Amino acid sequence: MKTSVRKCLFPAAGYGTRFLPATKAIPKEMLPILTKPLLQYGVEEARSAGIDTMAIVTGRGKRAIEDHFDRSYELELQINGTSKEELMTEIRDIVKNCTISYTRQVEMKGLGHAILTGETLIGDEPFAVILADDLCDNADGESVLAQMVKMYNIYRCSIVAVEEVAPEDTNKYGVVAGEFITPNIMRVQNMVEKPDPKDAPSNLAIIGRYILTPDIFDIIKDVKPGKGGEIQITDALLEQAKQGRVVAFKFQGKRFDCGSVDGFVAATNYFYTKSKV
Ligand code: G1P
Repeated sequence: MKTSVRKCLFPAAGYGTRFLPATKAIPKEMLPILTKPLLQYGVEEARSAGIDTMAIVTGRGKRAIEDHFDRSYELELQINGTSKEELMTEIRDIVKNCTISYTRQVEMKGLGHAILTGETLIGDEPFAVILADDLCDNADGESVLAQMVKMYNIYRCSIVAVEEVAPEDTNKYGVVAGEFITPNIMRVQNMVEKPDPKDAPSNLAIIGRYILTPDIFDIIKDVKPGKGGEIQITDALLEQAKQGRVVAFKFQGKRFDCGSVDGFVAATNYFYTKSKV
């Protein structure tokens, strides 16, 4: 088994109903913050963590994703030698240097199920997961996933990125509880998917960044449908946590919930201001 984190899985099959009608024909992962689609931010974050193999779990109506991470000869012909070329620098670099593979999730049965669908692309090695609608940025510091890979190299177990949320918002997230072993690292003992505020074990919420050890796949296969009747990654991780094999990491940086209109607008303003500095 490979022991370093070489691959990143992107669950990208969801419908994006909160962004209808924009997401009727365009995958939500392709909505842009400024001029760059959300998924490209995710891929760039993975690369900043030393990962160049991307595994994308797509679904019906998501072909634009594959076209984005491919060469477009007509476009290249049009812009070659013009000032527009520099707008393509980053995506050209990704297309040239990354291996990107796809598989389709035929039925939407939850995030755990989406991750299991990616097993065929990941195999028997630890891997990262990025939910592209959680957009993270750490100004000029290390990206959130790069910070997590460092933690993985120390703890060698599954890692979830967490941040404190308002107590009334716990029902939007997986929530963790446990014991802090450093100021930023908690050994997770309990985790609950989207608990009501009154039942939440803490206000530390999982955001869309994970590093998972590959035994998670077999665990997911045995997990029963949980919250919302879906196969939840949180429930699978709880099995690892019971064996002391999950840590929660309070990362450095900002995170925007671009699955909501408010978060999307906040991210747009943030990156716009950043682009002008
Ligand atoms: C998923 C996970 C949840 C996590 C969240 C982070 O929920 O199930 O545990 O806190 O992502 O964004 P979703 O937002 O897909 O409903």
